[in-house]
Amino acid sequence: MSTAHNNANIGDIAETVLLPGDPLRAKYIADTFLEDVVQFNTVRNMFGYTGTYKGKKVSVMGSGMGIPSIGIYSFELIHEYGVKNLIRVGSCGAYNDKLELYDIILAIGASTNSNYASQYNLNGTYSATASWELLSKAKNVADEKGIETHVGNILSSDIFYNADSDAWKRWADMGILGVEMEAYALYCNAAKAGINALTILTVSDSLVTQKETTPEERQNSFSKMMEIALGIIE
Ligand code: HPA
Repeated sequence: MSTAHNNANIGDIAETVLLPGDPLRAKYIADTFLEDVVQFNTVRNMFGYTGTYKGKKVSVMGSGMGIPSIGIYSFELIHEYGVKNLIRVGSCGAYNDKLELYDIILAIGASTNSNYASQYNLNGTYSATASWELLSKAKNVADEKGIETHVGNILSSDIFYNADSDAWKRWADMGILGVEMEAYALYCNAAKAGINALTILTVSDSLVTQKETTPEERQNSFSKMMEIALGIIE
């Protein structure tokens, strides 16, 4: 069995999947942290791998950029492949001056300017939240390892290059810690299916200070985030 976007067979994918945005980062994570790695997906170069970490079966797959992309891949992982825990490991732009480059955010909630939740026909605004089980584990792992984390609400934006250059300041005024482009859809898909999702982010740039990391630095700057994500699994 395979889908239009994933040529894995049933059973090829673990119940817990790490989801970086970049498929080459999925390959890097598999090569660096997992043992006995088998590639399960090549469609559209959205690489996915299954291996073991400290004897536990775990998978890692790219989600692509943006709510539509992670919406597709996470839906299929849940509904076609039986995945129960989805952990996004990504980067974000900081909206708050307390956040430095490389700081870690555990996204307890995701706000959005996307229409993603309109599909549920709710008579109101849906608040997308992380699974408490994964969030509390992540926080405990981080505390035990002495890794500082910022736990809060983030913005999953549909817009990277915003014509309204001050829009971010109004989200920042609401306590939003930073911006990325995927968590809201991941949390909605997980909630609707009754499974677990969490988003862990490394600050890669700051809207406040204009500081930013280079793409090369980004690729290698996520060790703290990976320690937390892998600590949840073990
Ligand atoms: N905006 C949106 N997504 C991001 C950013 C950003 O500044 N940085 C990392 N992901």
